[in-house]
Amino acid sequence: MAGIYIHIPFCKQKCHYCNFYSVVSLKHRNDFSEALIREIISRKNYLSAEEINTIYFGGGTPSMLSIQEISNIIDAIYEYYNISANVEITLEANPDDLSKNLIFDIKEYTPINRLSIGIQSFYDDDLQYLNRVHDSSQAHKSIEIALEAGFNNLTVDLIYGIPTLTDEKWKNNLKMFFNYDIPHLSSYSLTVEKNTALDVLIKKQKLANISEDQSIGHFKTLLEESEKNKFIHYEISNFAIEGYYSKHNSIYWLGGHYLGLGPSAHSYNGISRQWNIMSISKYCDVQNHESIVHEKEVLTNDQMYNEYILTSLRTSWGCDIEHINNVFGNKYKSHFKKNIAEAIKDNKVKAVGNVYTLTSKGKLFADGISSSLFYDLLAL
Ligand SMILES: C[S@@+](CC[C@H](N)C(=O)[O-])C[C@H]1O[C@@H](n2cnc3c(N)ncnc32)[C@H](O)[C@@H]1O
Ligand code: SF4
Repeated sequence: MAGIYIHIPFCKQKCHYCNFYSVVSLKHRNDFSEALIREIISRKNYLSAEEINTIYFGGGTPSMLSIQEISNIIDAIYEYYNISANVEITLEANPDDLSKNLIFDIKEYTPINRLSIGIQSFYDDDLQYLNRVHDSSQAHKSIEIALEAGFNNLTVDLIYGIPTLTDEKWKNNLKMFFNYDIPHLSSYSLTVEKNTALDVLIKKQKLANISEDQSIGHFKTLLEESEKNKFIHYEISNFAIEGYYSKHNSIYWLGGHYLGLGPSAHSYNGISRQWNIMSISKYCDVQNHESIVHEKEVLTNDQMYNEYILTSLRTSWGCDIEHINNVFGNKYKSHFKKNIAEAIKDNKVKAVGNVYTLTSKGKLFADGISSSLFYDLLAL
């Protein structure tokens, strides 16, 4: 499986918590899609003509693109890459952009077949804490229009652990989500990233700090409610009904190859990992995109093993000890077996045959368990 990720680095306003690369200035807005198309062409050999199963417009805010720009980008990808007949094409969209016209035009004039809507919360005070542009009524409307337009492959993002989000409001957010006929949910715990506005405002005591206990409580509610609604918890932050797992994100979690286009995008072709430059002005200036690679590294065996542990243990497919033996070697298998024993004894991990997965208790400690299994902590 292979995918293409396209980073659209524009936002109307910066959310307090977000450290993804994006700019609010529209200075390079007109040049951007032409620069992106130059990159699409100049990097056409990165995945060695592998069949492309997924295309993902992420951001930033891809729903700020016009239908014409989206179509031009997709046409260029179809012209230069080998696209699978049943490709999954996802567009991340913010509720305030999703007018009836835009959603119906996306459906009618583009091959996009999956929408990911950044709802975050259905309550205005949470949205204000996060500094989102949209309000609660736009959140509901965007979902209703997307469903009306026939986007049955729809996913929503919700954030928990927001200080203004009481336990009761969180339950209601989930209830409102499950009342819609939506087959996929991504739900993240609010994290305070360094140097974001949220970090600064909390330090200045202008915004309430997050609480780990609150976040753990919300995560437990999330697990209970998703189970009651027959959603499969297939990755630590992702829930879906059968047949609606994110194919694109599964490529990341299962070690597949992907080409990342646009400023700050990451790529991986099984040998090296590389990052595009995090500057829209430099990105738009460049003519040959091979020269804008920001950093490139060939992964060591330790790094590849650690990445496999980190991603596989967070999924319902789990971590396969024979895969470790075959791909990385016996010393990693022995290291894994020795270090997993405590988590099994504590009922945080269970083994069925060769495959190790987190138990409900273990899901609360996913990061700690993974790091206890890393081969060399520095190799990640
Ligand atoms: C970076 S956004 C891009 C898509 C779109 N602009 C949006 O805001 O929905 C992708 C997802 O990451 C989530 N996210 C980014 N930073 C986060 C943080 N510090 N804590 C929790 N979720 C975060 C966002 O809320 C969003 O659901
Ligand atoms: S969360 Fe989304 S809308 Fe908000 S700043 Fe980040 S990318 Fe932009």
